[in-house]
Amino acid sequence: MIAEVADCGVAQAKLAADNAQRGFEAWRKTTAFERSALLKAWHQAMMEAKEVLAVTMSREMGKPIREARGEVDYAASFLEWYAEQAKRVDGDILPSQHPDKRLAVLRQPVGPVLAITPWNFPAAMITRKVAPGLAAGCSVIVKPAEQAPVTALLLAQLWQQAGGPAEVFQVITAERPAAVSDVLMEDRRIRKVTFTGSTPVGKHLYAKSAATMKRMSLELGGHAPFLVFDDADIEAAVAEVMASKFRNGGQTCVCANRIYVQRGILDAFSERLTAAVDELRVGQPDDETTQIGPLVSQAGRNKAQSHIDDALAKGARRLTAEREVDGFFVAPTVLADVTNDMQIMQEETFGPVAPLIAFDSEEEAVAAANATPFGLAAYLWTRNLGRAARVSEALDYGIVGVNDGAPSVPQAPFGGVKDSGLGREGGRYGIDEYLDTKFVSTRLDG
Ligand code: SIN
Repeated sequence: MIAEVADCGVAQAKLAADNAQRGFEAWRKTTAFERSALLKAWHQAMMEAKEVLAVTMSREMGKPIREARGEVDYAASFLEWYAEQAKRVDGDILPSQHPDKRLAVLRQPVGPVLAITPWNFPAAMITRKVAPGLAAGCSVIVKPAEQAPVTALLLAQLWQQAGGPAEVFQVITAERPAAVSDVLMEDRRIRKVTFTGSTPVGKHLYAKSAATMKRMSLELGGHAPFLVFDDADIEAAVAEVMASKFRNGGQTCVCANRIYVQRGILDAFSERLTAAVDELRVGQPDDETTQIGPLVSQAGRNKAQSHIDDALAKGARRLTAEREVDGFFVAPTVLADVTNDMQIMQEETFGPVAPLIAFDSEEEAVAAANATPFGLAAYLWTRNLGRAARVSEALDYGIVGVNDGAPSVPQAPFGGVKDSGLGREGGRYGIDEYLDTKFVSTRLDG
């Protein structure tokens, strides 16, 4: 155990909603320049607390310390970006056919927001939701994942240290999240919910939101294909697959889950990928040399391991060397001869397992990539410009990396299609989710 936090329930959720409403009434009246200055100060406070945040998230959910430091930079980049964007929320003046009328379009904050965040990026998934919300003039209540509440509480502390009002950004921690989220979902004053997590929970929240007609953003499960064409620079393609697949031990919504390799380069690619995976250093999260830490929980470990066991039982071959691991660890693994009937081809693994599947033609690869209810991220590796354009346009996904296994940046839209959710986070698209559009028609001689 690294810390004890409050186990909030119905009473605290009601109190948080009251606070959020009061916070919103005041915050919406601040100028964009004031909000921008506070976001900048929060960014500064976060960068000064970088090591504390990194060590905290590494301890609470097992992220290797070097990656955790990278996450703090990534998380803080949303504060910096939206500090700037706060000042760019503008409206429109429309031409009028009536000489005595003026037509204006205003962009106004939607109101108090509930953000339900995951454990895999305990800081960045909070700032990617909270920064645009605050920049737009909303107040935000964050319900962090049960596995990573301390990072969220630290972020709230830093916000207040930077001068941010406590009622404008609150964190509510709970062992039984449904009790808290039910109260907030039913509260009419909460005007928007933004959620990152599993597709079943996202669908449940979406259905519930209808009763109070909340705005929804849902960033749900992925099952990302990575297509490697035979014109690829194999070394570079392996490096991008490594960056995508093994980031955060494979516990990333956008990480490659199915690696399709064109038959002509399959052997060469498999050999190099296997060598790279065999070199990954598995260890404790606080060891500076660790590249793959433990998975977040026993359940997470069991799921990833069951994908390996199921594939091997159905005829897949393990290409990587076997390693002795225990506890919540899963040995980084490359599997060959993977077929569609295996669990790993149907569900997100959320672990360090790379299944390889051969393909012959571009059409076959695109069809296989799209044959899933999910549509968050997809990747392709090719040096053929025409193919890069054709395939990226044909992939039914919200994010496509062309020769790029790590496309996430604060200014870009992040989100999926189909069962991977709706709405976008990041960039100017992300702030739109927190703004209502109001039309004001003014008759001058009224
Ligand atoms: C996620 O796993 O949902 C976040 C990954 C990213 O921001 O790149």
